[in-house]
Amino acid sequence: MGTVSSRLPVFPWDRLEPYKSTAAAYADGIVDLSVGTPVDPVPALVRSALTDAADSPGYPTVWGTAALRDAITGWAGKRLGATDLEHTNVLPVVGSKELVAWLPTQLGLGAGDRVAYPRLAYPTYEVGARLAGAEPVVYDDPWELDPAGLKLLWLNSPSNPTGRVLSADELRRTVAWAREHGVLLFSDECYIELGWEADPVSVLHPDVCGGSYDGIVAVHSLSKRSNLAGYRAAFLVGDAEVLGELLLIRKHGGMMIPAPVQAATVAALGDTEHVGEQRERYARRRTALREALEAAGFRVEHSEASLYLWATRDESCWDTVGDLAKRGILVAPGDFYGSAGEHFVRVAFTATDERVDEAVRRLAQ
Ligand SMILES: Cc1ncc(COP(=O)(O)O)c(C=O)c1O
Repeated sequence: MGTVSSRLPVFPWDRLEPYKSTAAAYADGIVDLSVGTPVDPVPALVRSALTDAADSPGYPTVWGTAALRDAITGWAGKRLGATDLEHTNVLPVVGSKELVAWLPTQLGLGAGDRVAYPRLAYPTYEVGARLAGAEPVVYDDPWELDPAGLKLLWLNSPSNPTGRVLSADELRRTVAWAREHGVLLFSDECYIELGWEADPVSVLHPDVCGGSYDGIVAVHSLSKRSNLAGYRAAFLVGDAEVLGELLLIRKHGGMMIPAPVQAATVAALGDTEHVGEQRERYARRRTALREALEAAGFRVEHSEASLYLWATRDESCWDTVGDLAKRGILVAPGDFYGSAGEHFVRVAFTATDERVDEAVRRLAQ
């Protein structure tokens, strides 16, 4: 019998290690723009909520506290424009990566089932299909997919890695197509607060879904919005029947968010000030890096939202990665996200102001 790990692709970040060593040897140290991991502080009100809930000896529940469910329905109503949400329309998850990786398995998908995701995408959509033994399929436009055997369709807007945002029209068309063919639609919206030259719309907005959550679920995370990647705080909003089934499975599997993190999530969802402050930090870093990349001969495509600049010098991504590593800057090669990215690099602006300024200086040399 083959191992489960043998079904999976090579863990891509291992391939970047030699370049990381090269960049780390640079005189003033590495500027790491490869992984999109937050570096700014966890907001004070979120930390207080976490420590106030530190005395939590009992088991938390998978569905979360009533206060957490209220916070999620309230936020989704206000921020996403979703209407008439009940607690049955929400489900907390332990960071969205575990959900993406295990969703096909928890939906009972397997051999003969197909799972589709964008041609250039966060690698975990493929991993999830493979863990379940289902067939991964990529698309350019979802409505051109063959619906035969297709059980799960992933959208990701704003996109990792390209920063592309799908219009309400594109979302509407995809929802209609998925419903027509009975394909379950999951929309990964974890970068929705990070629109720069676009205003991302949720699949839950009534203009897109017609006010019904039939067959659709949105995935949200506090990792980027509230610098909570270290807390593992995310949630689903949408089709009550699908979420009810997932709740049952996840109860059996013990997939619960720790009680202090639930309390911290309630505090984070109730505050928008820290979101605005964090956006300003990213906006400044984004502009500085974009100008420096363009002045250094790069072309930036899409990137209207998210935490990344999708940049190319029309050469192999590994040549770009190698050249930048010699200047002490580490970026992610585009082929981590699919072979269509082989001439691009993904430049994250999740580094401190000091490191971003240092990257700008080095790019000008
Ligand atoms: C598109 C996308 N989905 C999901 C995740 C996972 O985020 P988390 O597990 O921190 O919620 C990421 C992380 O970078 C991502 O880029």
